[in-house]
Amino acid sequence: MERMTAEPGVEAPTGDRAPDSGYLKGFESLGLEQEVRVDELPLTGSLPDWLTGSLIRTGPARFEAGERSFNHWFDGQAMLHRFGFGEGSVSYASRFLRTKAFDATEKGEISYSEFATDPCRSLFGRAMALFSPKLSDNANVNLVQLGERFIAMTETPIPVEFDAETLATAGVAYDVPGMLTTAHPHLDRASGGMLNYAAKLGPRNQYRFFLLEPGAEQPRVIASLPVDQPAYMHSFGLTERYLVLAEFPFTVNPMRLASGRRPYIENYRWLPERGTRITLIDRESGDQSGPFVTDPFFSFHHVNAFDDPDNGEIVVDMCVYEDASVIDSLYLDRLRSSGGVPPAELRRVRIRPAEQSIEWETLVDDDFELPRINYGRCHERPYRYVWGIGAGASGWLERIVRADLEQRTTTGWSEPGCYPGEAVFVATPDGDSEDDGVLLSVVLDSRSERSFLLVLDAADLSELARAEAPHHIPFSFHGQYARSM
Ligand SMILES: [Fe+2]
Repeated sequence: MERMTAEPGVEAPTGDRAPDSGYLKGFESLGLEQEVRVDELPLTGSLPDWLTGSLIRTGPARFEAGERSFNHWFDGQAMLHRFGFGEGSVSYASRFLRTKAFDATEKGEISYSEFATDPCRSLFGRAMALFSPKLSDNANVNLVQLGERFIAMTETPIPVEFDAETLATAGVAYDVPGMLTTAHPHLDRASGGMLNYAAKLGPRNQYRFFLLEPGAEQPRVIASLPVDQPAYMHSFGLTERYLVLAEFPFTVNPMRLASGRRPYIENYRWLPERGTRITLIDRESGDQSGPFVTDPFFSFHHVNAFDDPDNGEIVVDMCVYEDASVIDSLYLDRLRSSGGVPPAELRRVRIRPAEQSIEWETLVDDDFELPRINYGRCHERPYRYVWGIGAGASGWLERIVRADLEQRTTTGWSEPGCYPGEAVFVATPDGDSEDDGVLLSVVLDSRSERSFLLVLDAADLSELARAEAPHHIPFSFHGQYARSM
């Protein structure tokens, strides 16, 4: 999208408050000297005996190349972080992904097209940028464990495999059947494989869903839909019966992308008159129903989705913004000046295919982003709890929030000067209740200018332990807990 000043349909987020700027430390780069391996971090509290795996995260950690800065939080060069648990202690290791994009920054250059930053190049060089080898392989959004493989991902079709022990970069993991993809694949329970989405652009554009089965070298396309102007898609929904394709009215003309005149995301347009369109694709038959059209809104993250046959409904939960201006609010210059992010709400969409109806409701009265659930137990199924983070007085994300969707209530964890990242839920092995487990969150402590790993009881958000990292860790997006490597 164009920046806010050029986009009359999008209102600016609240930018007039003076931010408590302590969180800005989370946008300061790390250097190669901060690639570390620490066997035992200083620890207070105690860890559950069963917590013996690793939390591995990816996220932006370098925001400059030579004299030039990247424009957007999402552009920062990817660093892997691993917190290892065992024998009551916590180890830490970190390493930049050695991608082509990163190697260029080592030479002081920006040579690949990131989310909102383009390399310097001639007009001729701009042509067909999206279809050129200048697409970034900066896998800074999320990662998955697929059998023994660990794969870091972003929204370009270049998933990067790495060694979970050494954090060494191994190479491109597989070929994505399209030019755009998501870093939020789902587990396919039946095959144990990975489901994901891609947009194929060209003379005919398609939304595609693909499955990478365990042991397979390459994915196969399992469903596709034609589209003229693909919507920006950061994640998708999945029920036991349906693939859920939610198109928010933030779309791109692929020819604009091909012209390469603007950085990737600045080619998208907010078109509220399109509404939000949800299409259901039957996973068994391939039959498609919809699109079911509701009010215009925007979301990065689906929370969960499930079939409710008793009520003839498909339920789709997501973290929703009124529009796509949240993307503008995450430009680094914006973050460093006015600060703040617009509010996100936990929204439930109900679709009744027999009645051709769609409606939505707000689930809880609280700010809510970066949602995590008890995925192994509740993914695609009815569920009760979701954990996320929410903004506070600083305008930045400063609370861990637990939502009870049955009671429609929230509780929170916060500490002065502290800014938690995504709270990853790890279930107690053989735990009884859905919320039996711990939350793992990397928290920036602006008082010490360092980060620590916080371990909370997921049921009541009481603190179990914290382990102090040797330096600050720039805010990252997503991570996964690996029970074994
Ligand atoms: Fe995400």
